[in-house]
Amino acid sequence: MAKPVVDKDYLKEIDKARRHLRALISSRNCAPLMLRLAWHDAGTYDDKTKTGGPNGSIRNVQELNHSANKGLQKAVQFCEEVKTKHPKVSYADLYQLAGVVAVEVTGGPTIDFIPGRKDSLDSPPEGRLPDAKQGASHLRDIFFRMGLTDKDIVALSGGHTLGKAHLERSGFDGQWTRDPLKFDNSYFVELLKADSKDLLKLPTDKALVEDPKFRQYVELYATDEDIFLKDYAVSHKKLSQLGFILKTRSTLAQGAIAIVIATTVVILGYLLEVNKKTK
Ligand code: HEM
Repeated sequence: MAKPVVDKDYLKEIDKARRHLRALISSRNCAPLMLRLAWHDAGTYDDKTKTGGPNGSIRNVQELNHSANKGLQKAVQFCEEVKTKHPKVSYADLYQLAGVVAVEVTGGPTIDFIPGRKDSLDSPPEGRLPDAKQGASHLRDIFFRMGLTDKDIVALSGGHTLGKAHLERSGFDGQWTRDPLKFDNSYFVELLKADSKDLLKLPTDKALVEDPKFRQYVELYATDEDIFLKDYAVSHKKLSQLGFILKTRSTLAQGAIAIVIATTVVILGYLLEVNKKTK
């Protein structure tokens, strides 16, 4: 089990930032945008090179200007308001906390949040986020690179239960569900319906129905909302921690250090005794 590497004061600041985010997201109605910000900061992770990921680098103008990030400037600005009040909290934690709160305040599952992410301004090269015009094999290329699975791909795509596409941002237009401010399983229900032509279906959304392995999960999540919410919380946590758990001290490592120290003390004590006796 990984333990947070932050102190009590930092945990208190996280708690305050969480409450600030709740109020801000509710009053500005920006849950979808904040979830997209968290996902786009994390979704650049490359498991091979251990680069990208949830490290706050999306605030870097160079990365914010990547075409996949159009429209996210506003979300970065909203988070800056919280950062000004709680400067101790890293950008990396703040953006992921915003994603977790966005899901919560729209009625989604509670997502376990472990703080302690470090900030970076090293932006990954453009092109690490998925291209909505492509299909199943592209989705697998992108998500497997992060170290995620088929199940994660489908569960996380359920994030499209929130929000909409804007012509001026992505070139797509419309919303995936009837109530884009409610986090539920309606994204999957609508995906399987033939008569929801007025709702948005990106090529990557359609791929989830066309690919037999993805489709199994789509059908499961459309029929059982509880399973979707449970699986979503697990996959979202994974996404929010890509490349991060490695940097935390595990209880196992702490235990091992304690054993080494205790053994050294015993040996030194013994040597001291032997030394006294031989004098
Ligand atoms: C599977 C690959 C994905 C593709 C190709 C994709 C693509 C897109 C596109 C094209 C938009 C429209 C952006 C705009 O015009 O404003 C969008 C919006 C959005 N995406 Fe995704 N997305 C993917 C996965 C995800 C994931 C994993 C999440 C979160 C867990 C997510 C959350 C959102 C949200 C909440 C919005 C709405 C933003 C708003 O209303 O401003 N997406 N996505």
